[in-house]
Order: sequence, then structure tokens, then C-alpha cells
Amino acid sequence: MMIAIPGVLSGRALDHVRTLVTGAEWIDGNATSGHQSALAKKNRQLPEDDAAAREAGGLILDALGATPLFIAAALPLKVYPPLFNRYGGGEHFDTHVDNAIRLKRGTDFRIRSDLSATLFLADPDSYDGGELVVEDTLGTHQVKLAAGDMILYPASSLHHVTPVTRGERLCSFFWIQSMVRDDGARRTLFDLDTAIQAVGADRGQDDPAIIKLTGVYHNLLRRWADA
Ligand code: NI
Repeated sequence: MMIAIPGVLSGRALDHVRTLVTGAEWIDGNATSGHQSALAKKNRQLPEDDAAAREAGGLILDALGATPLFIAAALPLKVYPPLFNRYGGGEHFDTHVDNAIRLKRGTDFRIRSDLSATLFLADPDSYDGGELVVEDTLGTHQVKLAAGDMILYPASSLHHVTPVTRGERLCSFFWIQSMVRDDGARRTLFDLDTAIQAVGADRGQDDPAIIKLTGVYHNLLRRWADA
């Protein structure tokens, strides 16, 4: 499932994250790449242990925790500490698939990447190109969102970032291990959840049918989730 999550960051929090990361020391994006992506990738990243990057990443994790649409869609078990990249002057990232398992160097933190996330930090009018292009079974999707908005997409998909031909694309990116590993099961739970919310808004959350459907949601989650 691919879903845009609007307004993960806005106002002061967005400005704060941007100020922190733009003032930090950027390095070649290939410093942390595996062999295949090193061939495909041409961009810059912040080192994972950079203090400003960690502070900005913490702000993003706080914002995610306060975003119900993210929680409902991702059913997160673990979130990789957010990373940051920027592209300008023709930089791009050719077609690749993200690693299935991500280890955080120097720690025992590891996650299975079920979902990939890109949180856009630059105003889309401030740069040309830099679309995230995701290929799935329904075709090709081009994504370029407002600053503060995020796209969630299956980490199993092939994807690339088109060359940035004017200005700079600034993003945070990271991975999520979901409590529900299977994309189809997660999608079904999300559809059920949003339908219950919509009908509950009309009929009241104390409507007996809504209470029963809410029970169905939780009982499916109990069957399918690892917590
Ligand atoms: Ni990728």
C-alpha cells in the first residue's frame, strides 16, 4: 500500500528540523551504501551519528507518534532513526530496492524494512525534478509532496529518484517494521479502521454495530500482529 501522510511536520517543527539539518556537515551519500546502491546513488547524506541529524530525527519520531494516520497505516513496531539526504545539480538515485534488514552500526538495533518512508522537507516549487518514482503491481507512481508531507510505500518496491535540475531536494528517509508484516493484511486492517471511523462519525462510537466492528478490527490485529 502506498499512502501520503499530510502535515507530519508543519510550522515551527518543520522550520526547526530544516534549520538543524541544513546547518550540519553533509557527506557523500555512498558512505553508507551497499554495493548495488553505491552504483546507483548520487546524492549527499548526513552522517548517522551527527548530533543535529539525531536531534532532527527525534523531532520527526515525536511528530510520527502524534500522527494518527501514520499509526493506522503503518501499525509500526519499530522505526529506524530518520536519516537525511539532499539532491541538487543533477544528483539522482537510480532504480533499486531497499535492503530487507537494516542494522544500526555500533548498536544492537535491527529492523526488517516492511515500509519505506520519505518525508519531504523542501518546498516543491524550490526545485525541479527530484520525483520519487515507485513501481508496484499497479504501475509507476511519481511522488513529490509539500514540505512536511510524507509518503509511505512498500519497502519491497523498486524505486528511484529523478535528477534534480534546479534548486535542492531535501528529505528525511527511514524504514518501518510493522506489527503486521503482510502488506495485504495491513491494508485490510487500514480499510476496516477508516470505514469504522467514517461510519462511527455518523452513528456514534457507542452504536452496537460500531462496537462489534471495532471488536472485529482488534481481533484481526490480535491474529496478525507481532508486538
Ligand atoms: Ni531506496
